[in-house]
Amino acid sequence: MTYIFAHRGSSKSAPENTMAAFRKALEEKADGIELDVQLSKDKVPVIIHDESLKRTTGTKGFVGEYTVEELKRLDAGKWFSQKFKGEKIPTLEEVLIWLQPTCLYLNIEFKNNVLPYYGMEKIVHDLVCHYGLQDRVIYSSFNHYSLKELKKVNPRVDIAPLYSSGLYEPWKYAKSMTAESAHPHWRTLNQAILKGFKKHGIRVRPYTVNDTKKMKWMFENDVEAIITDTPEIARSVRAGTHQSKTAKFINTLQKINPKSLF
Ligand code: G3P
Ligand code: MG
Repeated sequence: MTYIFAHRGSSKSAPENTMAAFRKALEEKADGIELDVQLSKDKVPVIIHDESLKRTTGTKGFVGEYTVEELKRLDAGKWFSQKFKGEKIPTLEEVLIWLQPTCLYLNIEFKNNVLPYYGMEKIVHDLVCHYGLQDRVIYSSFNHYSLKELKKVNPRVDIAPLYSSGLYEPWKYAKSMTAESAHPHWRTLNQAILKGFKKHGIRVRPYTVNDTKKMKWMFENDVEAIITDTPEIARSVRAGTHQSKTAKFINTLQKINPKSLF
């Protein structure tokens, strides 16, 4: 069965990368959440997508120019709606503590493809280990050097290069960097590419799949997971897809032997 991961939390219903969005994802029964991690000035992993604070907090400057204490004073909810006024930028540690008693998977995206954060890989990995969440965490990044850096810290981690263009035989690329997974933009996929990934044992979790027809295609083609802003909608599409798969199977069996099932 294809897992459903909530992109930046349930980011259609609540402000992205906030505890409200993560709680919503759990409420909407997502199987996992995806979030973006950067480092504060005092090297604390914090959850925010843009390097600039402008869009989601209305503040000047960059994440790495503020200490965690300063970042905590910002409002990361009211840009989305007054209803979420007062939502804070979470630290990764807060998310891990919250996630620990749930069954959620966690996809941590290192947001270091524009600005570097030296040492972020080990800081994040140590925190994940501290909370015993190694088996539920997948690491991804558009900065593939960063993923290789993480592999030096722990060769057993599940790493997934993110990419958005038509790579030639991308499973070969994934293998070359000892990745077990790949997180392509949904537009880059077709059946031949999925077949190549499958044959070479690479798990595929496309992003950001918000269109219901595309979701259905992904479910029918058995990708490992989809990353979506709308986990609730994805769940109903998945349920429908499974039902129609079962119906198809029953029809085929009945054609072969009408008495086979009853
Ligand atoms: O990890 C999938 C997706 O989040 C990558 O793009 O820009 O939303 O972080 P972005
Ligand atoms: Mg992301």
